[in-house]
Amino acid sequence: MHNATSGSNAAAGTPATAGGAGQQAAGSNTAAAGLNTAAAGLSAAMGERRIREILDAAPDAILQVDQQGRIILLNRATEKMFGYDRTDLLGQPVEILIPEEVRPRHHGHRAGYENHASIRPMGIGMQLEGLRRDGSRFPVEISLSPSESPEMGFTTTAIIRDITERKLVEARFSAAQEKYTGDLIEANQQLEVQNREIERANRLKSEFLASMSHELRTPLHTIIGFSELLGEELHGFLTEKQKRFVGHIHTDSLHLLDLINDILDLSKIEAGRLELRPEPFDFAALVAESMASVRTVTRAKSLGTEANIQVDGAVEADRVRVKQILVNLLSNAAKFTPHSGHIRVDAKTVDGFLVTSVTDTGVGIAPEEHEAIFDQFYQTGVTTRGVREGTGLGLAITRRLVHGHGGTINVESTPGKGSFFTFTVPMRPRRDA
Ligand SMILES: Nc1ncnc2c1ncn2[C@@H]1O[C@H](COP(=O)(O)OP(=O)(O)O)[C@@H](O)[C@H]1O
Ligand SMILES: [Mg+2]
Repeated sequence: MHNATSGSNAAAGTPATAGGAGQQAAGSNTAAAGLNTAAAGLSAAMGERRIREILDAAPDAILQVDQQGRIILLNRATEKMFGYDRTDLLGQPVEILIPEEVRPRHHGHRAGYENHASIRPMGIGMQLEGLRRDGSRFPVEISLSPSESPEMGFTTTAIIRDITERKLVEARFSAAQEKYTGDLIEANQQLEVQNREIERANRLKSEFLASMSHELRTPLHTIIGFSELLGEELHGFLTEKQKRFVGHIHTDSLHLLDLINDILDLSKIEAGRLELRPEPFDFAALVAESMASVRTVTRAKSLGTEANIQVDGAVEADRVRVKQILVNLLSNAAKFTPHSGHIRVDAKTVDGFLVTSVTDTGVGIAPEEHEAIFDQFYQTGVTTRGVREGTGLGLAITRRLVHGHGGTINVESTPGKGSFFTFTVPMRPRRDA
């Protein structure tokens, strides 16, 4: 539509062209919009030099293309960005600035754009590239705005931004992110392997302990049995000293048996070999039995005992293990409560759970040790002075048994005042447990 003269006039930024640029005021980026608006306002008053200056001050390449796709206007940034002189580009098809393989497509797009002209970014979701005179390429972002004027017909203004820097930063960022993710995955895998090794070692340890405990118990029963027999003097009298020695053998082998039993229990639980066998039973009767089993101690220390059981109906749980839980808590209460103290058991049902507490007026446990006492072999230093005996395994086993039933256990205690242990077990075995 345009002759070479009008093309070069446009390129030089005649008022007419500047007006054209002005109509494209709503350029997709605000800088361009501002520029265009300014251009429109200024065109008449200031003439082509001023317009030229404004265009040339823009950091982005700005060029205008006629209906045939020929470049009719360009700014200084275009020259710099693509490595051409103005005169090399004016009148050339815009495809000169585009990598060869996309040129045919570009023709089509250009025709399509004329039919659906609007202000918009070009090639959304595509990696657009510019082609320099020296054949090198660089990533660009392009926004297009159309205009129509009687003098120039349909023209398109393109604002082209070199995004090499941004791409570099993005690439560096995603490389760092990838490396970071990779490191994390690797660390995770290492952890998994370590975890498996630890689990395996732990299982082997438990299995070893389980079988060892078994081997140890058999000869121990012999020692206990025969020292008992000796002490009974059915097969001959002993001197006072011999009797005392035999007594030591008997007491200490009983203690050793306790220890071994605890270890056996714990390793069984840890090896996952402890099976709970739920059966319905009368909880009040179980409490009475359990209290009877600590009677020797409570009598010797004149401890008052009391039970307040308000449980409706039978409890369905592993009776032997629930008794073990209770006896562990009661024997601790008896052990750590000084002469003339008091022990009580309270039980009720709450929301399908049997909630039982064992309260004593004993030495108590410092708050910072409320967690640790449930660890294996943990015995508090200060509070147990003078009463140190046992294995430190009782509460570890107790907690596992409670958890095995799907319950919880916790302690409240004030040193010097007493302790209050509460455990829960479901009244019935739970389907999912
Ligand atoms: N009722 C209690 N009063 C005071 N301290 C307690 C009580 N129950 C447990 N403890 C503390 O917790 C420790 C761990 O208890 P436990 O695991 O039963 O081991 P053990 O009875 O063999 O010492 C005890 O050594 C004691 O220090
Ligand atoms: Mg104990």
